[in-house]
Amino acid sequence: MNTIRLNTNEEDIRRAGEIIRSGGLVAFPTETVYGLGADALNAEAVASVYKAKGRPSDNPMIVHIAKMEDMDDLVDGGTFRISPYAKILAKQMWPGPLTMVLKKSASVPTVTTGGLDTVAIRMPMDETARSLIEAAGRPVAAPSANKSGRPSPTTAYDVLEDMDGRIDAVIMGGQCDVGIESTVVDMTGDEPVILRPGIVTKEWLEGVLGCEVHYDKALVTDEGTEKEAMRTAPDQGGPAPKSPGMKYTHYSPKAKVRLIAGDDETFGNRVMELGVEAFREGLKPAILEYGNDPNKAAHKLFADLRELDRQGYDIIFIRAIDTKGAGFGVMNRMIKSAGYDIVK
Ligand code: TXA
Ligand code: MG
Repeated sequence: MNTIRLNTNEEDIRRAGEIIRSGGLVAFPTETVYGLGADALNAEAVASVYKAKGRPSDNPMIVHIAKMEDMDDLVDGGTFRISPYAKILAKQMWPGPLTMVLKKSASVPTVTTGGLDTVAIRMPMDETARSLIEAAGRPVAAPSANKSGRPSPTTAYDVLEDMDGRIDAVIMGGQCDVGIESTVVDMTGDEPVILRPGIVTKEWLEGVLGCEVHYDKALVTDEGTEKEAMRTAPDQGGPAPKSPGMKYTHYSPKAKVRLIAGDDETFGNRVMELGVEAFREGLKPAILEYGNDPNKAAHKLFADLRELDRQGYDIIFIRAIDTKGAGFGVMNRMIKSAGYDIVK
């Protein structure tokens, strides 16, 4: 298959919309990461997304909409039946990097939701993304446009690295602002539960809603301490996540990744020791350190992992960042890209 490169002009977006309407796959930029879009209501098209990504089919997709009315047909009983909290978030946080899990309507094929009776919905901020959804004239199911297990793509070039020849088209937009995927929040219970942390933080949601927002148990330890969160792999006795996608190997470059925690001195010493050891084994080591700016770390992490792969590094030492605020979501990606290999 020849993957067409499209621009962000009106004519090309119209063409991209047609491809989606006729059951094809188009990768497109969003403010978080690039998505791999298909008609969310077309079971066959959605099935081909799983195939192109090599993704397990129990891992549900996020359905992207362009305007509030688009939600009506997707959720059980229509938009007016969603909880008051969900209404507030839709109003205050969309368009933006927040995904809400809601009870699904019969219109959404179960292949889109990985067999669940809920559907994840997001209205992206990115203009190109919204124009594409409008041009397609239907909701667009889109996982991140990487091969399953790889770091999410934050440039069109990253998308082509994984998907060239496997999908119909790529919209060649710019680099994504946020750099990690949207916050996923389950709105089906009495109080919201964060299933996947992101740049929209727990504190932010609590501020908007005026109620308590919880983390899924898989994201925090028994004691509930966020600092020690997420540190044991589910297959080694760690808690099992509720969001199906959170249980798979994720965000991994070809290089081995090790996460190093600790203050400046500890970090320096560990990196030195491990770096020397790597050299002795004939490996080429790299270091990623982002200081204490979680937004910058989010923006660069996946891009850096892919770039270091291109440059042929064998082992990447990432300095753990503080888990306050958006740092929590960034650490979540760091830990997963390291496959839970955390040097204490
Ligand atoms: O920022 C994003 O969210 C990007 C862009 C393209 O919008 N998309 C994205 O999709 O990250 P994906 O498929 O890579 O991740 C979707 C996550 C997975 O962890 C999946 O398990 C979870 O959302 N999810 C989707 N539907 C769900 C549902 N009904 N219940 C619980 N979790 C759900
Ligand atoms: Mg993904």
